[in-house]
Order: sequence, then C-alpha cells, then structure tokens
Amino acid sequence: MNKISSTTLIGGAVVVAMAVGLYLGVAKRGLPPEGLGMGLWRKIKRKKKPLRVYMDGCFDMMHYGHCNALRQARAVGDQLVVGVVSDAEIIANKGPPVTPMHERMIMVKAVKWVDEVISDAPYAITEDFMKKLFDEYKMDYIIHGDDPCVLPDGTDAYAVAKKAGRFKQIKRTEGISSTDIVGRMLLCVRERSVSDSHNHSSLQRQFSHGHSQKFEDGGSGSRSGTRVSHFLPTSRRIVQFSNGKGPGPNAHIVYIDGAFDLFHAGHVEILRVARELGDFLLVGTHNDQTISAKRGTHRPIMNLHERSLSVLACRYVDEVIIGAPWEVSKDMITTFNISLVVHGTVAESSDFQKF
Ligand code: CTP
Repeated sequence: MNKISSTTLIGGAVVVAMAVGLYLGVAKRGLPPEGLGMGLWRKIKRKKKPLRVYMDGCFDMMHYGHCNALRQARAVGDQLVVGVVSDAEIIANKGPPVTPMHERMIMVKAVKWVDEVISDAPYAITEDFMKKLFDEYKMDYIIHGDDPCVLPDGTDAYAVAKKAGRFKQIKRTEGISSTDIVGRMLLCVRERSVSDSHNHSSLQRQFSHGHSQKFEDGGSGSRSGTRVSHFLPTSRRIVQFSNGKGPGPNAHIVYIDGAFDLFHAGHVEILRVARELGDFLLVGTHNDQTISAKRGTHRPIMNLHERSLSVLACRYVDEVIIGAPWEVSKDMITTFNISLVVHGTVAESSDFQKF
C-alpha cells in the first residue's frame, strides 16, 4: 500500500514539475501552451492585464467636450486613469484656471468613464513622468485630443510619448471650450449691467434660446458681442452618453430637477446624495425658456442640450428628462414610477424633502 502511494506521489511530483517547466518555458518565450492557438493565448493574456490608458488635462470649467474626450479615451482601453494638471502648472503654461485643483478633481472623478484620478499632474509628459506612468501606474497609452498642445517654448507637450509609440489621439469636440464659457459669462455680466433698464431682447438672443439671430462668426462670438450657442446633440451622442439601462422592476426611483447650468462640484454633490436615497436617479433638466423666466433673461449660460449632456456624464445619474417641466405633476410621478422627489435647501417650494 505504502509502495503504491509513494509511487503515486513521485509520479505526481514529476507531472507537476513538467507542467511548471513547460509553463515557465512557454511564458519565457511568450508562446502559447501546447494545444492553445496563439489568438486565444493572446486573449487570455490580455484578459489578465487590462489595457490601461492615461489622459491628462486641466479640465477647467468642466464641460461636455471634456466628458466626451474622457468617454473616447476610455473606449481605447479597459481602464482610464486621468491626470489633473496642477494649478501651478496651468498658471505657468496657460494662465490661471477658473476652478481650483480640488474642484477640478471632484468634477473629473464624477465622470462615469473615469476609473482613477491622479492629482497635480504635470502639463507636459516628460521622460521621468512617462517612466512613472509606465512603471508605477502600468499605463499602456497616453491619450489627448487632436488639437495641438504646445508648450510656451513652442514644443509639443506629448513629443516624448509620441516618440515612444505610446500616444493615441481622440477627436476633439467642436464648439465648446473653457475659454468659450468664460466668454459667455463675461458677455452675460456686461450685458446685464448695461441693460437692466432695457427690454432684454438682446440678452434673449445671446444664448441658446434666442433663435432670432444666427451665429455670426462661426465659432466663439461676434462683432456685436452676442453669443449664441447652437449646439444640438445627435441621437448618437445622446446614446453614447447614456447608461442604456432602465430601472429594475422594484427600483426606488429618485427624481431631482434643476437648471444644472455650468455644471459644477455643488451639482455633483447634490446628485451623489440624491442617488444614495434610492436605486435609480432620474434627473430633469429644465428648458432654456423656463430658466430664463424663473432666473432672469441672462440665464442659462449653457443651453438645454449642453446642460443635459453634462448631467448625463455624471456617474450618479441614471437617466435624464431633457426639458423637464417646472412642476412635478402627478402624471409624471406615475409615468416614471417616481418614489421620491428631492431638491436642495434652496428649493423654490417647501413641499420637497430637504437635504
Ligand atoms: N478636449 C476635447 N474637446 C474639447 C475640449 C477639450 O476633446 N472641446 C480634450 C482635450 O483635447 C484634452 C482633454 O479634453 O485631451 C483635456 O483638455 P484640457 O487640458 O482641459 O484643455 P483644453 O484642450 O484647453 O480644453 P478647454 O479649451 O476647453 O479648456
């Protein structure tokens, strides 16, 4: 009996040793184990190691163009790590940011395609930082929009990554930038101060809801100083930003509505808290006319579609009603099976649950 077990033991050990030897040999040469095709072997190996991509940026006054860049970057790999450039580096390379580091971090972390965030990232990819990205953060590629990113000395901020063959480009979203948003805000303040006693028709034309005047300069403003955003999303863009999933049969659906103009860290926080009150967060974005009527003709600064995409990109949001009514009707509650309607402490009506 003893003899049989020791023979079995020795036999087993030999088989294990052979298997380990075979595996080590195979692994060393990068070849598939016997009987396994190269294609399948590559797939297995890739499954073990997710493709990690890095995108950096200032993400100042975070807008749907930034969100769309992050969405595209995430689609290149399996995990997206975002480097948020430090205030000091932005000042040195572009001029002071409007939103500080901690707010920019909150905004980037809230985007549903972002897996990890690195704070105080450098503006340019240096040899040292690239080594850190590859060795420490296990990055495979560095990604940026197809706009040139030039340093003050005229060199390309991504030259090192491009040379190493580790750079990939995504398509920049046309018609939106932080500079453009600041421009809209400045025009808004200026026109507001000179026209308080005027009739407000010029302001009406300024933003998305004023359709009486077409875009005069094809991009960022006009000689007369009006600024019309005529951004219209396609159904494809809305689908790309959507979660594509409805609530489960017994979901506790929470509803919150608002303007969500210039989507910021405060909005992210209220959406996070609202989402925690249920299983599904439905957000209503009011249309431009409603906001103008309630908050003044100088608002909103971002149009309905721009605001809705920013809300949709937020990881706490499950679905958006684009152009929700001001009043939450009984009909709406039934149609959307809403369990709870919430609002912040500055609610226009006291009938809401307050945070
Ligand atoms: N990006 C984009 N579309 C935009 C704006 C930015 O695809 N309309 C991309 C950039 O190409 C970059 C990332 O978003 O890959 C972060 O951009 P950021 O560093 O914040 O700077 P800018 O390109 O200057 O964006 P903005 O002008 O809006 O500040």
